[in-house]
Amino acid sequence: MATVPSTQKGVIIEKTGGTEVLQYKTDLPVAALAEGEILVKNDYIGVNFIDTYFRSGLYPASHFPYILGREAEGTVVKTGGGELHGLKEGDKVVWMGDGAYTQYTAVPAFKAIKIPSSLPPKIAAASLLQGLTALTLVREAHPVQKGDWVLVHAAAGGTGLWLVQLLKAIGAHTIGTASTQEKVDLALKAGAEHVINYTHEDVRQRVAELTSGQGVIAVFDGVGKSTFDLSLDVLARKGSLVSFGNASGAVPPVTIGRLTAKNAKLLRPTVANYVATREEYEAYSKELFAFIEKDGLDARIHGVYPLSEVARAQGDLEGRKTSGKLLLDPEK
Ligand SMILES: NC(=O)c1ccc[n+]([C@@H]2O[C@H](COP(=O)([O-])OP(=O)(O)OC[C@H]3O[C@@H](n4cnc5c(N)ncnc54)[C@H](OP(=O)(O)O)[C@@H]3O)[C@@H](O)[C@H]2O)c1
Repeated sequence: MATVPSTQKGVIIEKTGGTEVLQYKTDLPVAALAEGEILVKNDYIGVNFIDTYFRSGLYPASHFPYILGREAEGTVVKTGGGELHGLKEGDKVVWMGDGAYTQYTAVPAFKAIKIPSSLPPKIAAASLLQGLTALTLVREAHPVQKGDWVLVHAAAGGTGLWLVQLLKAIGAHTIGTASTQEKVDLALKAGAEHVINYTHEDVRQRVAELTSGQGVIAVFDGVGKSTFDLSLDVLARKGSLVSFGNASGAVPPVTIGRLTAKNAKLLRPTVANYVATREEYEAYSKELFAFIEKDGLDARIHGVYPLSEVARAQGDLEGRKTSGKLLLDPEK
């Protein structure tokens, strides 16, 4: 049986604000296990934009001090009683849930997935939350068909690169947007047919040219406030605007009548409501891992940051300096 310390390293916030509110601690208590939980010693912690929303206060933390972080990869070191879905000590798992910015997290077993032995754990670590987000968006938010024209904003971002690769595998025609030539090249390499550098190209005009004036049948928009109007404008008749994030800020209230011009569908989904039951965790992670292993989808890792430098990691993500997945090493 693994020896588990009583205290650990981790990052908390006691109030909301900029990256200065992130506090790196070396003496946080290791949580006791409840029924149906496993204790995971995290190897890699995923950084996601949602972590910055809880830090800034855009999304409300349920209590303070609050431990940020929504996903990690690691080893099961202890198990509670109850239904553990076949997980046992020593298993390598990825999980989604709360309180990931720590060395050890008590995780409901139904939210943890055993990593196939054929998949390197670091790749699984870089894949779960953003990969499942992209997969559920193209399966459920707007079920994309072969031959569909779609637009992906921030196509070289963490979630954007998953979307572009999955859309390529499905056989869609993907138009991406990005802010630098380096990002344009990355998104093209990942499978986008066209990538518009919105800093000096007119996105509306380019989408009209590329789609013979029809527009795209779906827009996957994780940028939010600054792109919402644009996304609605480039949509085809009967298209879906899938607004799934707020990288530029929250979308202000929308007048429902604006959808009439195109009989547009507007969705504001979260992966947590597509992947909520054990069955959904198992089915979607199996499909994601199969895409990675059989279709060669690339979990592009932007960088592994020491947990003690979490402020730099979040600053780089918010500052548009990254492409792909940011991971944290809880030992450093
Ligand atoms: N609904 C869900 O369940 C779910 C799950 C995962 C992620 N998300 C959302 O998906 C979006 C992307 O998340 P991610 O973690 O993969 O991040 P990311 O795409 O790697 O980074 C955000 C990107 O957004 C673009 N951007 C445009 N305007 C921006 C601004 N004002 N500030 C910062 N970035 C801006 C930047 O790309 P360019 O430089 O190319 O413009 C930037 O690199 C976020 O909104 C996140 O909340 C939602």
